[in-house]
Amino acid sequence: METPYFICDEHQLSRNLEIVDTIRHQAGCKVLFATKSFALNSILKIIYQHTDGVVTSGAYEAMHAFDLLDLGKYVVSYSPGFSDRDFQNFAKYSSHLIFNSWSQVFRYRDQMPGVKAGVRINPQVSAMRTPRHYGGLSDYSRQYSRLGLPPDQLDINAFLDHDIEGLMLHVNCENPDFELFQATLRKCEIICQNLLNLPQIKWVSLGGGISYTAPGYPIEAFCQVVKEFGNAYQVEVFLEPGHAVISSPFQLVASVVDIVENEMKTAILDTSAEAHLPDALLYPTEWSVQNAVTKLETPPQEYRDYGPYEYILGGLTCLSGDVFGTYRFKSPLNIGDPVVFVNTGDYSMVKNSFYNGIKKPDIYLERVDGKIELIREYSYSDYLTHVS
Ligand SMILES: Cc1ncc(COP(=O)(O)O)c(C=O)c1O
Repeated sequence: METPYFICDEHQLSRNLEIVDTIRHQAGCKVLFATKSFALNSILKIIYQHTDGVVTSGAYEAMHAFDLLDLGKYVVSYSPGFSDRDFQNFAKYSSHLIFNSWSQVFRYRDQMPGVKAGVRINPQVSAMRTPRHYGGLSDYSRQYSRLGLPPDQLDINAFLDHDIEGLMLHVNCENPDFELFQATLRKCEIICQNLLNLPQIKWVSLGGGISYTAPGYPIEAFCQVVKEFGNAYQVEVFLEPGHAVISSPFQLVASVVDIVENEMKTAILDTSAEAHLPDALLYPTEWSVQNAVTKLETPPQEYRDYGPYEYILGGLTCLSGDVFGTYRFKSPLNIGDPVVFVNTGDYSMVKNSFYNGIKKPDIYLERVDGKIELIREYSYSDYLTHVS
């Protein structure tokens, strides 16, 4: 197996999907997989056996879901802005459409016979992974956010006049804290109280970003809260996980190509943050690396005590910013050593590019019985298709 490659641990994926099944049954909600986080056919087929449908954001995602899913499953589509061209496909392939603004409702609501309509709310509260993520790019409720109707636009008459029967509240982002989830939901309930009490509102999506597959997450208590929410307002509740299902099963395995020194040591890897883990650059996060700790994510003393060998991990493209971050190891890195990024399933493969003409990582699946299957191989011909 030549690096770089992604590898999926089927055992870990099954564990996450068992939790999804528990939530579906105990909370009585619908779990819709967010295909924006991951979209590889062979693994989607496994995920689709344990979910009630999908949430999509692009017309091709909706068409893809329609092709792969069994009839009767939910295809819930949301976009910050439907264009005239895309709307036709969204309306044709979706069971539910969620609008981002009243002007989009006015433009399209009458052109979707048989499709259920909802709107996204921006309640201006959020539950982020760490305090430093509030107000940043990944905070949907940050100032000037373009996502959803702010509280001053929640005009009850518009809901009644346009037969809007669903709400989306996607305000969590990689949130592993159950109490924070619960407190944020309560705040959303207060802001949306009048709407939630409308008999016309039949379904509410609580979005993605809730890390209920994290070790030690209180699943029973979570199910109880979701169930009580559904019962209190007599609504069907949707959850839209991406990260919680697909992040932890994957690792990105790379090798050290060189070690250069300029005041600090940088290990240059045969992968790239820009091309293979782009969220490493977009959001203030450093990926976990096996047998290492990250400077950004580890308390300073713990970081210093971990081990004496500190490296910037750098990517293979010539972009100056193509770095994964600064890490400490217990033993020195040498050319040829493997470096393993963990929890890399979400928002990586779907965003991978051939930037700089470097090879995309192949993708493997390690079956529960230990057998390893190559499920996607990339070669020069894929690059040619991309540039032609
Ligand atoms: C509307 C919506 N639903 C669900 C998700 C999936 O979120 P996550 O992968 O964090 O669970 C996203 C991600 O951005 C989203 O925008």
